This record gives sequence, structure tokens and C-alpha cells, in this order.
Amino acid sequence: MAGPAWGAYYAGGGRHFRANTRHNRPILIMLTRPLGKLDYAHIVQVIDRWWGGPTSSLAHPLFFYELGALARVVEVDGVLVGFLFGFICPADAQTGYVHLVGIHPDFRRRGVGRVLYQAFEEECRSKGCTLLKAITNTGNDGSRAFHQATGWDASIVEDYAGPARPRVVFQKRLD
Ligand SMILES: CC(C)(COP(=O)(O)OP(=O)(O)OC[C@H]1O[C@@H](n2cnc3c(N)ncnc32)[C@H](O)[C@@H]1OP(=O)(O)O)[C@@H](O)C(=O)NCCC(=O)NCCS
Repeated sequence: MAGPAWGAYYAGGGRHFRANTRHNRPILIMLTRPLGKLDYAHIVQVIDRWWGGPTSSLAHPLFFYELGALARVVEVDGVLVGFLFGFICPADAQTGYVHLVGIHPDFRRRGVGRVLYQAFEEECRSKGCTLLKAITNTGNDGSRAFHQATGWDASIVEDYAGPARPRVVFQKRLD
């Protein structure tokens, strides 16, 4: 089977990608652009449904107001189908941190997450980062598979979030 067809071109204030040819599904034309206030308002309303459980507390407003400069959304035909909340660590300007990612359930395995991560990685590289980091719960197999498929290393740290609160810690070195 042919691999995904990745392409990109700039237009307006955002960036367009086309993806992907796998799974015999139609190519999506995706627009990535910065997170706006209306996007944030929409995300907090849909996130519990997209994640399949209570998650909205993770979408704290500080990831829009204070740490939102690198946050991105993806649109397909004007519909918001994915978001990434990420930032460069205030205490370590060489590390980019992905805090939260969500893809509309009807648009998974279409390359939306890959495009969001690619956009964030490029922003971080351009700002001098040498490392990307993210975490997830140990039961989140989909997240683990996604990160490993996109070139991240994963390790379980037993007390990462406190006693008996392990997390999968993902890291990706930027050469
Ligand atoms: C995890 C998540 C962000 C992946 O986004 P996505 O847009 O579906 O991922 P992509 O289509 O870009 O996948 C890229 C590759 O990752 C791997 N992958 C992604 N999701 C996977 C899954 N559920 N199971 C196995 N592999 C997976 C595949 O190799 C895939 O390539 P392929 O489809 O060509 O085989 C999305 O499923 C999601 O929003 N999940 C719920 C929220 C969450 O867990 N967020 C991450 C923690 S912050």
C-alpha cells in the first residue's frame, strides 16, 4: 500500500496540508492556524465528547490566554476537527511541551494529529528547541501508538504525577 501523500502550501493566515491516501479514504484538505478565542470556546464544549470522558479541566484557560501562542487548530471545510495546546517551557526554552491534543472522533486516523504535531515541531525548531515532551495516562494506548508512530520515545515513570500516579512520558529529540 502506498504511504500517505503529504503536501503543504501556505495561504492566507494559515497553512494548508493534504493528507492522506492510507486506508482508502478521501484526501483531506486541512488548514492549520493559530487558536482563537472562539475556537477555545468550541473546544471546551466538545472535548469531553471527543475524548470519551471528563477532560475539560485539562483545557484550562491558561493554555489559551497565557500559554496559547503556539496552540493550533485544524479545519476541514471550515469545521474544526482537531486542536493542539502546546508551548515552550518557561523554565527551559529548549523544550517544547504538548499539553493536550484532541481530534474529532470522525476524523481520526486521517493524519490530523500528525499535521498538528508537524506544525508544532516546526514552530519549536524555529525557536531553537532541541526536545519535545508530552505525557499521557498509562491506559491511553491510542496516544501511545500515535506518539511512537510519529517518532517519539515512550517510558513509564511510576511516580510522575505523585505517589501511585504513573504516567507515560514521551520525548522526541530534535536534531
Ligand atoms: C491520539 C490522537 C491524537 C491521534 O490523532 P489522529 O489524527 O487520529 O492520528 P493520525 O491519523 O495522525 O495518526 C498517525 C499515526 O499514528 C498511529 N495511530 C494513531 N492513532 C492510533 C490508534 N488509536 N491506534 C494505533 N495507532 C494509532 C498510526 O500509525 C497512524 O498512522 P496510520 O493511520 O497511517 O496507520 C487521537 O486519536 C485523539 O484525539 N485521541 C483522544 C485524545 C488523546 O488521547 N490525545 C492524546 C493525549 S494528549
